[in-house]
Amino acid sequence: MFKQTLLAAAEAGASEMVRFFNGQFVISNKEGINNLVTEADHAAEKAIFEAIRKDFPDHFLLSEEAGEIIQDSTYKWIIDPIDGTVNFANGIPLCCVSIGLEQEGKMIMGAVYNPFLKEFFFAQKGWGASLNDHKISVSSKEKVGSSCLVTGFPYTYLDAPNGPLQIFEKLIRKGIPVRRLGSAAIDLCWVAAGRFDGFYEHKLQAWDSAAGFLMVEEAGGTVTDFSGSPYSPYQPHLLATNGKIHNELLHIINGGEVAL
Ligand code: IPD
Ligand code: CA
Ligand code: CA
Repeated sequence: MFKQTLLAAAEAGASEMVRFFNGQFVISNKEGINNLVTEADHAAEKAIFEAIRKDFPDHFLLSEEAGEIIQDSTYKWIIDPIDGTVNFANGIPLCCVSIGLEQEGKMIMGAVYNPFLKEFFFAQKGWGASLNDHKISVSSKEKVGSSCLVTGFPYTYLDAPNGPLQIFEKLIRKGIPVRRLGSAAIDLCWVAAGRFDGFYEHKLQAWDSAAGFLMVEEAGGTVTDFSGSPYSPYQPHLLATNGKIHNELLHIINGGEVAL
């Protein structure tokens, strides 16, 4: 039943994305100069809420635009109605709906749907991860030096030791490909599918990563914070890899040099 609702909610949000894509919609700014929210984010969020509430009116909802809708429930749906809003607003089809379902603080299911690439990622705790109903698994690269990585940058410049630009520069100077797609949920799913060997980001919110981190774990990968502790979506740092390059990339993120 949860799966059915999750799929319906992701489909409902994605229909709104498709309806507005490349059309006319109102765009406003949140904190920071290019941190956008569009009419489509609100419409997608509304459609997702309706789909969940139809089946589970008492469940807790946490969603990027509406915030927390606290209910006395052991189930919490963590929603990013559009992840990759800047892409969406510019007509770049790298954006998605992302929904994770938590039970008593543990992520049990997640869906990430990019309707433009027609890619539906789904994960269930203990059951694996899939892309359009085909099982996926992480890559088998052994070294950072031969890896293809992806990262993201916060909307406002983050001035911290080993900050996003320092790590990016260190990797790029050694000739390691580090992509920047603009959607953390897609970044995570593409690690799960073995397209990228690793993803790191310094300042994520629970809705960016809730579904995607489960996707990576269920595809056989490893997800931690920057100290190497098990990942929690309620803190900002995320490192997700195929497992094999995890310690090496962790060392680089914490100030270590890139060994080739
Ligand atoms: C953003 C995207 C982006 C990441 C940012 C997120 P939004 O989410 O996931 O890739 O770098 O940190 O805030 O604003 O498009 O939902
Ligand atoms: Ca997001
Ligand atoms: Ca968003």
